[in-house]
Amino acid sequence: MLPFKTLIETDKSLKLPVYQQISNRLIGLIQEGLLKPGSFLPGSRVLAEHLALHRKTVIAAYDELISQDWLEAVPRKGVMVAANLPVIRPRTYRKTVTPYGEEAAFAFHRIPTLPVPTPPPATGTMLVLNDGFPDARLAPLNEWVRECRSVIENPRYHKLLMYGKAMGSEALREAMVKYLTDTRGLSISADHIMITRGAQMAIYLAAAMIIRKDDYVIVGSPNYFYADLCFEQLGARLLYVPVDEEGIDVDAVEKLCSSKKIKMLYLITHHHHPTTVTLSAARRMKLLAIIRKYNLPVIEDDYDYDFHYSSAPILPLASADHGGNVIYIGSFTKSLGLSIRIGFMIAPASFIRGSASLRGLMDLRGDNLSEQALANLLADGTIDRHLKKSNKIYKERRDLLCYLLQTRLGDAVQFTIPAGGMAVWVRFSQKISLVKLAEKARARGLRIASGEQYHYGAASQNGLRLGFASLNNKELTEAVKILEKLVREELKA
Ligand SMILES: Cc1ncc(COP(=O)(O)O)c(C=O)c1O
Repeated sequence: MLPFKTLIETDKSLKLPVYQQISNRLIGLIQEGLLKPGSFLPGSRVLAEHLALHRKTVIAAYDELISQDWLEAVPRKGVMVAANLPVIRPRTYRKTVTPYGEEAAFAFHRIPTLPVPTPPPATGTMLVLNDGFPDARLAPLNEWVRECRSVIENPRYHKLLMYGKAMGSEALREAMVKYLTDTRGLSISADHIMITRGAQMAIYLAAAMIIRKDDYVIVGSPNYFYADLCFEQLGARLLYVPVDEEGIDVDAVEKLCSSKKIKMLYLITHHHHPTTVTLSAARRMKLLAIIRKYNLPVIEDDYDYDFHYSSAPILPLASADHGGNVIYIGSFTKSLGLSIRIGFMIAPASFIRGSASLRGLMDLRGDNLSEQALANLLADGTIDRHLKKSNKIYKERRDLLCYLLQTRLGDAVQFTIPAGGMAVWVRFSQKISLVKLAEKARARGLRIASGEQYHYGAASQNGLRLGFASLNNKELTEAVKILEKLVREELKA
């Protein structure tokens, strides 16, 4: 008989019931080849004595394994290891569980760790001038919880918790037809809408539907680095086109289109990331003509269109005559909270169906509960009220941050007041090292980015996005005070 006393260890302090600890270990012994198919196990009384346990515990373990077909009860003989299991040669008497460590035994695609623009604060009291995040304190979270609860409590909605489409909830897609027509002038039906987990998923899916290895993709210089990383991951060769105070240089786009087969153009029409510029009306007109002339597929990332302060935002390319070439992407993450992941993609119906099938391969269906809750909040006007309220507050915060930067930091920084969005693109004097500045700021209780990700694939402008939306007036004033001291120290050094 095997030395079961040493081979089977049990621990009553564990959450896992003892009988399951025994059955798991017996499975291990079978898999290790120490218990062979057809061999008999000790009687339950004997094993219970060996293990100093109650006999009922051993019987429960045997019953469990019989029900899972690892063991068979043989009348009048006892319990044996199922005869039809494959025979395995034992390697050792020791436990042979491979602990998970750092490296895999097989080759796999190495995806670089994604940079985080401004890591979360180390302590709760730390101030953060982040990449341009909303203020979670203003989000309509009570209303959100109310709607989520109503979905859970109302039997009418229960089927939503079971079934759903990769394209997203029908109720939300219907509600969005009105929302997008009213706010962006889009001419669409629900067939042209796919709900995604944030704008980021939409960017990835749309690009994956279009790009193949070595395809040329035009992006801005600088550009939203997560988009660049995503296109490169799909095998694209990126062609960078300058972004200036009017947005992406459309003449440079045309030049590339006339000399190479361009597979896709990615652009951010409002509050470009990182520079915050909005594509001018003149360039939009020119670009639309280029898109039609070259049949150029475009991802128009309009991730924070809803937050525009200076005037009404210019309508997206997607609402103009683009000849069916524009995939329009937006998001609610800035309205509800960055971790309530609801975004959307607008495209021709066949493209939406294909994208939904692709999404289905990694995420079978959308988050029906959240999507129904959002549909209800769109219908009862909560989102609209929230946008009006937060736009007013964010505008004041933008103005305050710009005023403070101008009066406190003076010539050490250069920036243009952004027409919308949640951050100011601030270029620092070349004498200031942003990596050092970020390090020193951290020690003084302020988190800022160190800037490297803002010039991924582009020349550095020694710039930082300083998010104003998530800090109130007092916090903004405090944050700039810290920044001012550090900048002065750096300039003196
Ligand atoms: C330009 C741009 N596009 C897309 C996204 C992704 O947004 P979401 O949180 O909706 O995925 C971001 C994130 O802030 C962004 O800056």
